[in-house]
Parts: sequence; structure tokens; C-alpha cells
Amino acid sequence: MSYPFQIKTKEQYDRAYKKSVEDPEGFWGEVAGSFYWRKRWDKVLDWNFKDPDIKWFRGGKMNITENCLDRHLGTMGNKPAIIWESNDPEEHHRILTYRDLHHKVVQFANVLKNNGVKKGDRVCIYMGMVPELAVSVLACARIGAVHSVIFGGFSAQSIADRLQDAQAEFIITCDGAYRGNKEIPLKSVIDDALVQCRFVKKVIVVTLTRMPVSMIKGRDVWWEDEIKKVETMGNPDCPAEEMDAEDPLFILYTSGSTGKPKGVVHTCAGYMVYTTYSFVNVFQYTPGDIHFCTADIGWITGHSYIAYGPLCAGATTVLFEGVPTWPDAGRFWDIVDKYKVNVLYTAPTAIRSLMSYGLGPVQSHDLSSLKVLGSVGEPINEEAWHWLNENIGKGNCPVVDTWWQTETGGIMISNLAGVTPSKPSFATLPLPGIQPILVDETGKEIEGNNVSGNLCIKFPWPSIIRTTYGDHERCRTNYFAAYPNLYFTGDGCMRDENGFYRITGRVDDVLNVSGHRIGTAEVENAINMHAGVIESAVVGYPHDIKGQGIYAYVIYGSTHGDENLTRQDIAQTVARIIGAIAKPDKIQFVTGLPKTRSGKIMRRILRKIAEGETENLGDTSTLLDPGVVEEIKNGKI
Ligand code: WTA
Repeated sequence: MSYPFQIKTKEQYDRAYKKSVEDPEGFWGEVAGSFYWRKRWDKVLDWNFKDPDIKWFRGGKMNITENCLDRHLGTMGNKPAIIWESNDPEEHHRILTYRDLHHKVVQFANVLKNNGVKKGDRVCIYMGMVPELAVSVLACARIGAVHSVIFGGFSAQSIADRLQDAQAEFIITCDGAYRGNKEIPLKSVIDDALVQCRFVKKVIVVTLTRMPVSMIKGRDVWWEDEIKKVETMGNPDCPAEEMDAEDPLFILYTSGSTGKPKGVVHTCAGYMVYTTYSFVNVFQYTPGDIHFCTADIGWITGHSYIAYGPLCAGATTVLFEGVPTWPDAGRFWDIVDKYKVNVLYTAPTAIRSLMSYGLGPVQSHDLSSLKVLGSVGEPINEEAWHWLNENIGKGNCPVVDTWWQTETGGIMISNLAGVTPSKPSFATLPLPGIQPILVDETGKEIEGNNVSGNLCIKFPWPSIIRTTYGDHERCRTNYFAAYPNLYFTGDGCMRDENGFYRITGRVDDVLNVSGHRIGTAEVENAINMHAGVIESAVVGYPHDIKGQGIYAYVIYGSTHGDENLTRQDIAQTVARIIGAIAKPDKIQFVTGLPKTRSGKIMRRILRKIAEGETENLGDTSTLLDPGVVEEIKNGKI
């Protein structure tokens, strides 16, 4: 495959960027021309950010799986599409060629149909990182069902909320999942969720750990049995459903500043075009490259840069079931060595965690195959950037710091590996088609360089969020209402003297814990559900490994009992309600919270105290009761 849209020099980048701004429709029309369409589009772009109403490639007909799979079969059928590395390094890994993957997707697409799944139906996927996960995602896309993958660490309650929101009647899961030395009972978590979700019609269960599971007659079926049924049916094909460019492809839930996670909706064509475009350009993909993105498919990074982007580009993508530190902290380097990985795309939190083990686990592996290193999910601190550059890349591999979001579908601001300049801790320059703008609190543009502000984007790109599932107004108020005619990212940002962008972190009430987005309100709601808790306030604080840790101030009713046990109980309640990823790192019991006279919690003050900056709390004159602050300061843990 060749990629006519691949940018190879800084001059080409400058030219592409200029064209993308001056003639966006011409620019994206050309890029889209190298994909396979059943029918070409009538109009490249229709949009307004007011409603918002955004349509890319209007009238175009296609199916993303024909682009990920079918069109590669002629020339690349025998090329590995997916290399699966199991949790246990001793177990045999599996390689699926494009032909194998196509076969499995088609087969499972028929299973879905046999079980009553139709175009437009929502299918929830709750699995570990096994090949069947990729197959499930693609099989949904094949028949036009809308997948909603839920990360395997979320609780039954979180799943139930998402199932209800999406009205998903179908679930694909595994009996259990392996993660490091743990076995996670996925089906059992699903069973707990389904107590509240009687509308679910079918649960398809992959056999993996073979831990005991309950199987309800008429509702629960085994993946393997269903595959056998379609194998005996004769016709093994499953032609791809013809999709409209703007038909939904998937829903992915993410946290915002309000309590309830939002179902971000991405549509077929624009998402396909932009993830492939950004994949090829940011990582400078060359045919034959082995791409290893260490994310989980349960997050957007896995959707875009393990599954869709690499597969559309015809790359070989590594799917890793396990964790970076098991059986030892050399696991990533072992995988790089074993498969001669060329591109390693990971998160700062993983890098910081591996740094703490020293260079021993790195030195025992041959990393000479690496060409490009990537970072995503949170700001990368300079120390981690340099460690990655020097010890993993040996100074020879460009490091791409890629800024983007679930809502943006693909990488927005990043250097292009080896093509545009890099700068530690800077995402640097926008990709062609992306028009960032910094604004102040009132929405006024902050022009020039050496400035900071709130990061917005002023023009649509093909994989921009289209809506939040079932509640378009929520999408409008969350992203398009803060500043008229701008998409607001929720991130703070500075632009240096060269016009390079550095993302400084969220400016809303969203935390970024180990690269996972968690809303403070969500955590507070969960804490408040614990018996005895009267009120709570949650803020982030700097954490060496996680980037941000969760600091909870809790007003607790009864004073009897062991405080430490109560802390653990509260953490357990949060794990039950949201999932272990949202457990507070620190809980401080207080008798009151700093509030303004109108009753608003002054989080700014709580944040400062959590950060240990108790000296300079800023303006406290609007506080209802300044005494509360003194008490909290003195009681800081
Ligand atoms: C943060 C993950 C700094 C940011 C793809 C954003 C980053 C949120 C970077 C989105 C980066 C992501 N530098 N911050 N390179 N990448 N972020 O939706 O705050 O899980 O808004 O998408 O992560 O997280 P999400």
C-alpha cells in the first residue's frame, strides 16, 4: 500500500497545513480519495458549531471493515494483521494474518446476525485484551452495529449505567481475563450489572480462563458454540453492510465535569479517514512496520491506534493482554525484542512506573528495531521524556508527544516523527486540518506567542465528536457552548516563542489519573454513597507515577471506629460504584468544607492544600467560614 497523503518533509508539512486551512474540503477530499468507497460523497463538509451539526463526506457510502480488511486481501492476505501476546509470556502467542482476521470477523459477524443483532443496534463489549476483542469490534462494524467497548476495570454499576444509557441489548464478554497474576471474573461482573438491565437479550461469552460462570438459558451463549453453528451453515461470507458516511460507528463513554459519563459518538467515514491519516503521518508508518500501542482497546487510544488506524493502513499491530510489570518490569522490552517492534506508543504513567525499576530490565533486551516512540494520555514530564529518548530510543528514535481526546477521535497536536521538530514536554504543532486557538475566560482569542489560555479548536476535522449518545444538548453545552463557534477541549495550554503548543492539563473538574479521565463529581457521588458520609470534595494532586492522584476531603457522620478502616471502606465503595481506577489515594476527614457564601465549594483552596501549598492560598475573602481552612490545613495527611 502506498499513502499518497504521507508527509515526508517539513516543507511538505507546511504546504499540507496551509492547504488544509485554505481549502479544507479540497484537502480532505484528496485524502479520502485513497480509501475504498462503495459510493463517493456528494459534499466533503457541512457544518456549524452552534447546534452542533457536522457532516463529513455527505452522501458517501462505505464500510470501515472493507478498508481495514477486504481491500488488503489481494496483496497482503498473508501479512500479519494482529500479533497477540498473551498475559503469560510462556504461553504461545498468536498471529492473525489479514486473511485470518477477515475470516474471523466475517464468521463472528454471522454469529451476531444469528443472535438477532441488526444495523444500528448497540453492542456492549466487555473483554480482556484478547484477539476476540478486536474481532468483536470489527464484526459489529461489519454489520453496522454500534459497538460500545467498556474497559475491563469498570464495575458492574458503571456497566449498568452505560448499558442503560445506550440501551444496549447485546453483550460480548469473556468468562474471565488474565491481568498479571490476577484473574478477573468478567462474566460475573456482567451478571451483577444485568440484575438492573432486564432489557439485555443476549450475552456471548468467550472461553478463556474457564473459571466457573453462570449461564442463563435463553440469554447467555458460548462464543465457540455459536461459531460452530455458523460453520455448519454453509455460506461463510458476510458481505459488509453499506454504511452512510455519517452513520454511527461506535459509542465510547468518557468522564466529564458532571457526574454522569458521556457516550461520545463517532461516525464511520470521518473517523476512518482521520485515524488512518494521523496514524500514517505521526508515526511515519512504512510498510512492514510492527506497531505496538500499549493502551487497552477499552480506551480511545486502543480504538484508534491498535485497531482501526493501523488496520486501515495495512500495518501489523500488536495486541498485548498483560501488564508492563508482570512477570517483571522488562515486559514491554521483551515484546519489543521478540517481535522486532518498530513503533512503541505508550503513556507517561507507564514510563514513570518502569523508570522506577532502573535500567536493569531494559539492558537485557535488544531494542534496536525501534524507530519511533510515542506518548499519549497526559502531559509527559521532561524527566520521563528524556528517559524514554535516551534509554529506550538510544537517542535515535524521534519521540512523538501526541495530544488528543476521546472526543477528537485521533491525534490533534503532535510532532510528526522525524519530520517536524520535537521539544520535550511539548506536543508542538497541530496536524494538517487542525486549527487550535487559545482563548481567555471570556472567549477572547489570545494571539501571538509566549502566551497561555484555554485550548479550543475553531474548525471541524473529520473525526470530531458528532453527539453524545441520546442527548445532543449535552454535547452542545459541554463542548460548543463555552465559547461561541469553538470546540472547547477542557485543557489549558501554552504556546511558546516558536508557536509550539504545550498542554498543561485540564481546566475543568476532570482528573487524569494514570492517563485515565475521571470526573471529580463522579468520585464524589460514589464517596457520598458510602453510609456515614455526609459530604465530600475531590481534587487532584501531583503523584509521582500516576501523574495525578485523587485526594478526597470527607465529612463523616459518626466518629466511632477505626479511621483507617473507614478510609478503606470508602475506597471499596468507590471501587464498587465506579471501578478500582477511581479509588482515592488519600482521604482526609474534615468537619467542614471551604464554601463561598452562595454555597459553592472553593476547590482552588482544596487543590492548593492537597498539593502541599498551604502558605499561599490566594484570595479567601469570599469564604463563609475561614476557620474551616485552618482546620483542613492542620489536619492535612
Ligand atoms: C490529556 C486520550 C498532555 C488531556 C487520548 C486530554 C494529554 C485528555 C495528552 C484526554 C498529551 C491526552 N499531553 N495531555 N500528549 N494526551 N492528554 O479522552 O487533558 O482519555 O484532554 O483521550 O488527556 O483523555 P482521553
